[in-house]
Amino acid sequence: MKLSVSGENAAERLAIALGVAPVPLVDTHMAFLRARAIMVATKLGVFEALAAGPLSSDAVADRCGTSPAATPKLLTALVACGYLRAVKGDYALTARARTWLLADSPQSVRDKLLFEFFEWTIVEGTEAFVRTGRAHDLHLSDDEERWGAYQRAMRVLSRLAAPEIVRRTPLPRGATRMLDIGGSHGCIPAAMCRRHPALSAVVLDLPAAVRHAAPLLAAEGLGARVVHREGDARVDDLGTAEWDLIYISQLLHHFDEATNRALMQRVARALTPGGYVAVVELVRPAAPGDAGQVGALLDLYFALTSQSGTWSIEEIAAWQRDAGLAPRRTISLRTVPGAAELVARKRE
Ligand SMILES: C[S@@+](CC[C@H](N)C(=O)[O-])C[C@H]1O[C@@H](n2cnc3c(N)ncnc32)[C@H](O)[C@@H]1O
Repeated sequence: MKLSVSGENAAERLAIALGVAPVPLVDTHMAFLRARAIMVATKLGVFEALAAGPLSSDAVADRCGTSPAATPKLLTALVACGYLRAVKGDYALTARARTWLLADSPQSVRDKLLFEFFEWTIVEGTEAFVRTGRAHDLHLSDDEERWGAYQRAMRVLSRLAAPEIVRRTPLPRGATRMLDIGGSHGCIPAAMCRRHPALSAVVLDLPAAVRHAAPLLAAEGLGARVVHREGDARVDDLGTAEWDLIYISQLLHHFDEATNRALMQRVARALTPGGYVAVVELVRPAAPGDAGQVGALLDLYFALTSQSGTWSIEEIAAWQRDAGLAPRRTISLRTVPGAAELVARKRE
């Protein structure tokens, strides 16, 4: 998936094709206005206000406690962006808003949009980062509100992919123990345990993450079968021949190459013979210009948040091979644009 500018009529399409349309203005000004409008509507409860049916602008303003003068400006912008429809003077949700932004939709990404207010502030540091090379460290924060928003945001993304990941992740015969490193909410081990009744799991994460992820894991309703362990994946001993499946999702982009190499060595030691490691990552294109806008933009973003970046499929597979594991064919995840699952096996 990628963001790109397209014309709204034949003349605009021609102008874009001829290179005479000011595409950078749409790439920047329209992109940030659009993003902010959708985020603000989510935070103010505009989509929830319209969940039961169409309303006038004044009625939306009344329900959301917003300005009757300013609210129609936001609603009209959301119509232009495909999140609302105008219906006889009222406003109604489009299928996109209903599916992705209502809190109780199974596909809701609402919590991720709420975390984007924090990400917006981080991204404002891009210029300083590129000038100095000094990154923000997302995981050193003592902002408890941000930690809570972060953990809830990660859960909605994992939930979207959970059915596909559970279906496509192999387990050795008779598997009983799973470790999820940097696992936060634990929604994938919970889903794996539901599918495999003999399996139990441990979710390792930083203490601040566990503080906020604990209620999310409790809500999975698996009790002692899936438990948190506070720790630090960069240094903790993961044990020897202890885990049939080690799952690592969206963690390696926070670590540098040496840390990831060393982690994969400890993972290899910690797996039972015949056990699997499954790495899920937003992957960077192998070379500049190769397809993969998501991975390339996130490479810059994770450099800013964590002094690291996204990794290519080849790099991750090399760490697995160098740790003595045998990589299998890479799985492109249909439910997470730009992400792949790289499974490798330890010899029996
Ligand atoms: C991007 S989130 C991914 C969460 C989850 N694995 C998922 O895919 O939804 C990264 C997680 O790794 C955790 N993390 C970051 N550094 C860590 C470390 N040194 N040790 C353990 N966990 C860490 C963060 O707290 C966060 O929960």
